[in-house]
Amino acid sequence: MKIVETLSDLRAQISAWRAQQLRIAFAPTMGNLHQGHLSLVQRAQSIADKVVVSVFVNPLQFDDKADLQAYPRTLQQDIQQLSDTRCDLLFMPTAELIYPNGMAVQTKVVVPGVDDRLCGKMRPGHFDGVATVVTKLFNLVHPDVALFGEKDYQQLVMIRRMVDDLNLMIDIVAVPTCREQDGLAMSSRNRYLSAAERAIAPQLHQCLLQLGQALQSGASDWSQVIQAGVQQLQTAGFTPEYLEICRANDLQQAIAGTDSQLRLLAAARLGQARLIDNIACDLA
Ligand code: PAF
Repeated sequence: MKIVETLSDLRAQISAWRAQQLRIAFAPTMGNLHQGHLSLVQRAQSIADKVVVSVFVNPLQFDDKADLQAYPRTLQQDIQQLSDTRCDLLFMPTAELIYPNGMAVQTKVVVPGVDDRLCGKMRPGHFDGVATVVTKLFNLVHPDVALFGEKDYQQLVMIRRMVDDLNLMIDIVAVPTCREQDGLAMSSRNRYLSAAERAIAPQLHQCLLQLGQALQSGASDWSQVIQAGVQQLQTAGFTPEYLEICRANDLQQAIAGTDSQLRLLAAARLGQARLIDNIACDLA
């Protein structure tokens, strides 16, 4: 695996591959890799000739400086895992390389309508930071295809919209969430859970599954089903931020009796950790 830290080295390798007409797949990450990230690489290998991964903890998407400081950095482990998975190129830029003029004067990409709901409401500026860095990375890596995990479903929907709105010639591929045996979605943030919290954490996924079952069995008062779900999370020890039934394609609030392709999404705090999860629910 080639490790690249400068723009000129990145450009040289990408140009060489392009000259050979190789198809390039790209998976942007913030490191601290787990099986969820590696599944992006594995899927990328099945649809492209070369796989590029970036590891960059993007300061522009952190609304909370303490969260940025505390974000787990495990570079040596990440390099080992990527090389074992036969990733072709790892791009590891510094913040100075990505934001040479500083973040305050950085041109931003904003995706209205998606960025101010769900997680966007709780984390102001977060999605602008994601959209901006992903656009910059797309322009540097020039991928034919880019892969994103469904775990961050709102991020995925936003990137699809951005690619569409800005006419970027990149296919976006969604990769299913990787889960632990008990259903907890894999996440770098799970390491913030104590042993007792870790035992409770899978209930977030269970709550979404129960919500889905209620909708499948024809519950018509959706606000009541949601209220029951929120209560269930509180009783388990979570502090829920949201539990919502949305339209799968644009994440607008779904309407009972009208919408059928749904996504059920939840975010909740458990001790030091903020956990998010989501599942598909098709009523058609
Ligand atoms: O999902 C993430 O890890 C980040 O939001 C991303 C897409 C790498 C942008 O920094």
